[in-house]
Amino acid sequence: MPSKNKSYLKSESLKIVGHGKLKGSIEISGAKNSALVLLAASLLTNEKIILENVPWLTDIEKMINILTNLGVKLVNKNNKIEIDSRNISIKELPFELVNGLRASFFCIGALLAKFGEVQIPLPGGCNIGLRPIDEHINGLKKLGAEIIIEEGIVKAKLKREREKLYGTNIKLTCPSVGATETLIMAASLAQGRTVIQNAAREPEVQDLCQMLKKMGAKIYDSGKETIIIDGVNELHGCTHKVIPDRIEAGTFLIAAAATSSSITISPVIPNHLEAVIHKLRETGSLIMIRDNSITIYGKAIKAVDIETAPFPGFPTDLQAPFTALMTIANGESKITETIFENRMNHIHLLNKMGACIKLDQNTAHIKGVQNLNGMDLVGSDLRSSAALIIAAIMAKSTSRIFGLEHLDRGYENFESKLSRLGIEIKREFHKKILIEKEYKLDSQVIKTSEFKAA
Ligand code: EPZ
Repeated sequence: MPSKNKSYLKSESLKIVGHGKLKGSIEISGAKNSALVLLAASLLTNEKIILENVPWLTDIEKMINILTNLGVKLVNKNNKIEIDSRNISIKELPFELVNGLRASFFCIGALLAKFGEVQIPLPGGCNIGLRPIDEHINGLKKLGAEIIIEEGIVKAKLKREREKLYGTNIKLTCPSVGATETLIMAASLAQGRTVIQNAAREPEVQDLCQMLKKMGAKIYDSGKETIIIDGVNELHGCTHKVIPDRIEAGTFLIAAAATSSSITISPVIPNHLEAVIHKLRETGSLIMIRDNSITIYGKAIKAVDIETAPFPGFPTDLQAPFTALMTIANGESKITETIFENRMNHIHLLNKMGACIKLDQNTAHIKGVQNLNGMDLVGSDLRSSAALIIAAIMAKSTSRIFGLEHLDRGYENFESKLSRLGIEIKREFHKKILIEKEYKLDSQVIKTSEFKAA
């Protein structure tokens, strides 16, 4: 029974026994960053879309809530979702739903193309950066949209004299994944040809194009830096299987390398992981590729440098997990984050565990150490939480990792997969006494207000 001057905060943590070793094989789930945009693309047709291999994550649940809020009918059958967008009634997305999930902003292209108008709140920044949307807005304006931003709401509609968006040439300043996806969806129902230069080439963009082509869209050269879309009058329903999650796959490969373990992961699409496999081989791991599975034999870890880059370069989403690996490598390494301006939040936490990292803006200079110490730590975004879990598995004592609301956004059944691979890991539920809007976590004081969705 809470006393009158105290309140309680429920929290969850993963208790991880150190010196872990991974053994065996695990199944890789469908890609979060593909499933989210495919759900948005289902708005483009009045016919049924069936998505298979959808990972069950909090971000997916949030996107489902957003579509339901628009009047879309969705039927969940485990990792399969049937989507019927025929009766969309609302063209405004509510702030509290969009603010919690940046990917919901990607609905703007589909809703504008199909209904000629849409209002969506600005997605706002998060723990890894400001996350601007200028590339989305500028591209949609070039396609013939009138867009104003009033009190944080993006209000977009076709120009007066226009019935549809119209094809045009768009050159992106930076190869933004979300902007490329927004503009492909908008252009797929536009009048005429759209050419997007400096387009993002990520596998998730390619997966979107594969599904749109099944729906009748005319898209050429997806996966290259110039994508051509010839608009059509309408798009049809289809069934589409989400590609395997290359970031989850890479996270497990890095965990195996960090513990000198041997595991097999599948299904994967090996060429989605070329840059990661190349770097892990450079550190000394042996990696065998067979059809849609990869087996890694972790060996002694050599220090290597990485610099994140747009696909096919080293993915920013694996920068934090790879940094954890380098903390115990033999030698000195340099890790540079070039995609997001604030994606080094894990560095000071790894140093608390005994790592030796000097941070110079977005470059981490790492001197490998023998061991890390188990600690109680709070992850601040999705991928830094994964990095802390890898570090906890490597550490010589037990850790508790908090901030699981971030982890559960992007990794399906993460702890049960690690447990099946032999790691002693358990989700614990705590009740913390809340003192003056903060709660104490051993020696750390964490303000609950600082967490936002990445
Ligand atoms: C997607 O985010 C992914 N999210 C991110 O994954 C991923 O890290 C990122 O692409 C890069 O690969 C989803 O697909 C849902 P961007 P997105 O637009 O589309 C700048 C994870 O951990 N930019 O490619 O938002 C931006 O500031 C998440 O799973 C503009 O300047 O990323 C950033 O510096 C995190 N103007 C760079 O481009 C714009 O209009 C890359 O951002 C848009 C982006």
